Amino acid sequence: MRGAHSVITQASLALLQLSSLLLPLVTAQDSVSYDFDSYGAEDPSGTPYQTYRSNVDVKPPQMQINRNGTALMSGHVFLGINGLPTSGQNWPAIYEFSEDRMGSLVWTGNYSEPFDFKTQTYKGEPVLTLWSGELLNGYGRGSYHILNQSYDEIAHFQVSKFGDEMGDIHEFLITADDTAIVLIYHGIPWDLTASGGVESGWLFENTFQEINIETGELVFEWNASTHVGINESYNSLPSDVGQSEEAPWDYFHINSVEKDKNGDYLVSARVMDCIYKISGQDGSIIWRLQGRQSDFDVDPAVTFAFQHDARWVDEDQTRMTLFDNGPTENIGYSRGLLLDVNQDEKTVKLITEFTNLGKTFGTFEGSLQAIDPSNETTNFMLGFGSQPYFAELDHDGNVLLDVQFGKSNVVNAYRAYRQQWEGKPSTKPDMHWDQDGNTAFFSWNGATEVESWVVCTANASDSRTWTNVTVARRTGFETTVNLKDAQLESFVRGKAVSGDGTALGWTMASDGNELYDAPDDVEETGSASTPSPTATPTSSTPSATEAAPSSSSSGAAARATHGVMEQVYVAAVVVVGGLALA
Ligand SMILES: *[C@@H]1O[C@H](CO)[C@@H](O)[C@H](O)[C@H]1NC(C)=O
Ligand SMILES: *[C@@H]1O[C@H](CO)[C@@H](O)[C@H](O)[C@H]1NC(C)=O
Ligand SMILES: *[C@@H]1O[C@H](CO)[C@@H](O)[C@H](O)[C@H]1NC(C)=O
Ligand SMILES: *[C@@H]1O[C@H](CO)[C@@H](O)[C@H](O)[C@H]1NC(C)=O
Ligand SMILES: *[C@@H]1O[C@H](CO)[C@@H](O)[C@H](O)[C@H]1NC(C)=O
Ligand SMILES: *[C@@H]1O[C@H](CO)[C@@H](O)[C@H](O)[C@H]1NC(C)=O
Repeated sequence: MRGAHSVITQASLALLQLSSLLLPLVTAQDSVSYDFDSYGAEDPSGTPYQTYRSNVDVKPPQMQINRNGTALMSGHVFLGINGLPTSGQNWPAIYEFSEDRMGSLVWTGNYSEPFDFKTQTYKGEPVLTLWSGELLNGYGRGSYHILNQSYDEIAHFQVSKFGDEMGDIHEFLITADDTAIVLIYHGIPWDLTASGGVESGWLFENTFQEINIETGELVFEWNASTHVGINESYNSLPSDVGQSEEAPWDYFHINSVEKDKNGDYLVSARVMDCIYKISGQDGSIIWRLQGRQSDFDVDPAVTFAFQHDARWVDEDQTRMTLFDNGPTENIGYSRGLLLDVNQDEKTVKLITEFTNLGKTFGTFEGSLQAIDPSNETTNFMLGFGSQPYFAELDHDGNVLLDVQFGKSNVVNAYRAYRQQWEGKPSTKPDMHWDQDGNTAFFSWNGATEVESWVVCTANASDSRTWTNVTVARRTGFETTVNLKDAQLESFVRGKAVSGDGTALGWTMASDGNELYDAPDDVEETGSASTPSPTATPTSSTPSATEAAPSSSSSGAAARATHGVMEQVYVAAVVVVGGLALA
């Protein structure tokens, strides 16, 4: 059996090389063709999404690739998809953006309204982390989930003290000590006269906690109101806000917190236009970067507004990244900023500005990630938050990859990350055999290591011997295999194989109607060494195509773009008056 296996593997690999030459993979546009307003217009309520034959449960957004350049960094792309209820699935999703598989889904899972979906390290192991819960007007009420490499949930926890499902959307960071940093928005009675409000008013307290994930024990807690006066806020205070417990005034809008190696915290507050360094000893403010009481001399090229995601790039704290939503007086688009921060001289200068091909304006949410912070010339991942765009750029700010993942103003992802991930699902791979169409479809939600599918046939589902019919290179989330001239018996199934020929898993067996349990410990015999040319995979039933739809950019679309931008701008100015947007 071992001998037979290795012969088949050799044959498989040869066929694999052949099929990679024959296979048209994803077709993406190299040109810039923004259709900000018209993309998805044929589906007014939703956004273009993909469906698959082998797995009917997943309906992830389709990617429109506006530019795919060379020199992309390795790793997968992580998006916590959110949007209108009609826009397909608001689930966390991992995509592949490699030369071979540009924009293919890798994994998606049933967690509603996910925020801050990414990989982190917990107890020395790579894990997936996310917030899920109820998204409210610019904040949320929910809890935090940790999944292992098999996509099994290994932790689910709440914030400390404030009650279940009180955790906010904006941050879920695991520290080097395996504690978690999380946020809470909660109303407290407060005298608002210093900002023109009522004396017996209500304030949105912005709290961050560092908690022990296992025990729930509180390690550190910080309340904005203890340290930052409401007179430092840029947020307006409309008359219908701040008067009742139901409508507290969000004067601060905390949206990112990280802990540095000295135990101090870096905090971003959107409507203060300010980044704070907070003492881990007593919570006092060590300095303010920008805002009404800045301790820094901020270079005019740096001036930012409504920002998100402030991070130190290096441990020595000389470089910082953030997402500047804007708009500011001179800049009407959103941008990522790489900053040179001198904490002794209290100066901050611009190193690089990052934006995408369309200079998108993302009113709220957004992120900038130095993909490999240890690399001086790392690429950067830029997520436009409230608008469905992200881009990968080199360290000089050149756009290498430019993607739209849904209809504007309909779909969004709080942050976008490119990170290393190896997924080994505990589920079995999926298949569908369309007997009339002479086609089989294979997929395995979350499996990152599959390079090919070996198709096998037998006369009974519980057969101990399966005949190897053909092998197909994995083309994307789902691989479509043409079986027109294959000699098939009553049952067909597939085996997922890694790049080095290791068997990773078997599907159940299909008779064309139903799926049946079938043994995984089987003998393979095969004719794969004499493949018929027609037995190579096809790539083009609509359901299996990972390709982006062709775009329809025109003068009208360009004009519409401008209109939408203006509309969003107006909305930003109005809405931040009351409850600051996420
Ligand atoms: C990526 O862009 C290159 C250069 O324009 C193009 O030749 C290639 O087909 C694209 N690849 C994919 C997978 O879209
Ligand atoms: C997702 O989970 C919800 C709640 O458990 C359930 O009602 C729904 O059917 C699930 N959706 C899918 C596609 O599995
Ligand atoms: C993931 O967690 C499940 C449940 O605890 C466990 O059975 C499985 O072995 C874990 N997988 C990995 C890769 O750690
Ligand atoms: C933060 O405020 C809450 C009440 O809103 C209080 O229970 C808690 O003790 C405060 N924490 C600190 C560190 O002051
Ligand atoms: C806010 O009020 C405090 C206390 O009165 C004062 O020290 C501070 O200068 C004020 N800040 C601003 C920006 O007005
Ligand atoms: C650093 O990043 C650049 C840009 O992606 C890449 O070309 C280079 O190989 C990386 N260097 C190292 C040491 O990883």
